[in-house]
Amino acid sequence: MARAWPGAILDDMDCKSTSPDRYRIRTGRAEDLDALRAKLDEAIRPALVEPGCRPLSGHDSACIVASVEAAFAQALRDRRQNVLVGELHGLACGFSIVDHSDPVPDLRWIVVLPEHVGGGLAQALMDAAVRLCPPNAPLSVVVSAGNRRAIHFFRRNHFVEKSAGSRLRSIVRMRRQPV
Ligand SMILES: CC(C)(COP(=O)(O)OP(=O)(O)OC[C@H]1O[C@@H](n2cnc3c(N)ncnc32)[C@H](O)[C@@H]1OP(=O)(O)O)[C@@H](O)C(=O)NCCC(=O)NCCS
Repeated sequence: MARAWPGAILDDMDCKSTSPDRYRIRTGRAEDLDALRAKLDEAIRPALVEPGCRPLSGHDSACIVASVEAAFAQALRDRRQNVLVGELHGLACGFSIVDHSDPVPDLRWIVVLPEHVGGGLAQALMDAAVRLCPPNAPLSVVVSAGNRRAIHFFRRNHFVEKSAGSRLRSIVRMRRQPV
């Protein structure tokens, strides 16, 4: 049943702005990666912060960027996943990926480019992602324990930490309960 959701609702959401006069949230496209790529490394760095760990090397960072790009491209081909892109004046400036493969949809990524952090785009992407989930469905996310900004953002969006779960203390699993 979850598989019926993505395409059906995305068609309605196209061309709809979820943030007043600013960002437009739409379905992602392959060419969005071209616009996002230049700043993807800087954008996802906060997602990889682990308390007490050394900074990522250039090689590590390049590998992670490549894996995010691959996840984006793969999600575009997978009808069970939604890729949403936020754009401003026609330029992609953030994205989210929600995977509906499991009974609990998974927010695999939500990323805004550095100059848009704090500007409301993340909230617009989150609101759109939630609207793509079936009514009353929870939504899960995994976040690095050192990523305090993201954790605050998710808490503000009704995500709560799951007590049971990962043995990795550097990882926080959170779940949003419908409100
Ligand atoms: C996570 C992300 C999408 C949130 O977008 P954003 O534009 O920063 O979100 P907002 O500004 O709406 O919310 C961030 C909140 O964290 C708060 N904050 C900032 N630094 C903080 C810190 N060190 N500790 C705790 N809270 C912090 C902000 O004050 C803001 O709170 P408030 O507006 O409720 O007062 C964005 O920061 C991002 O792209 N990060 C990199 C990718 C990532 O980490 N993604 C999440 C895992 S997939």
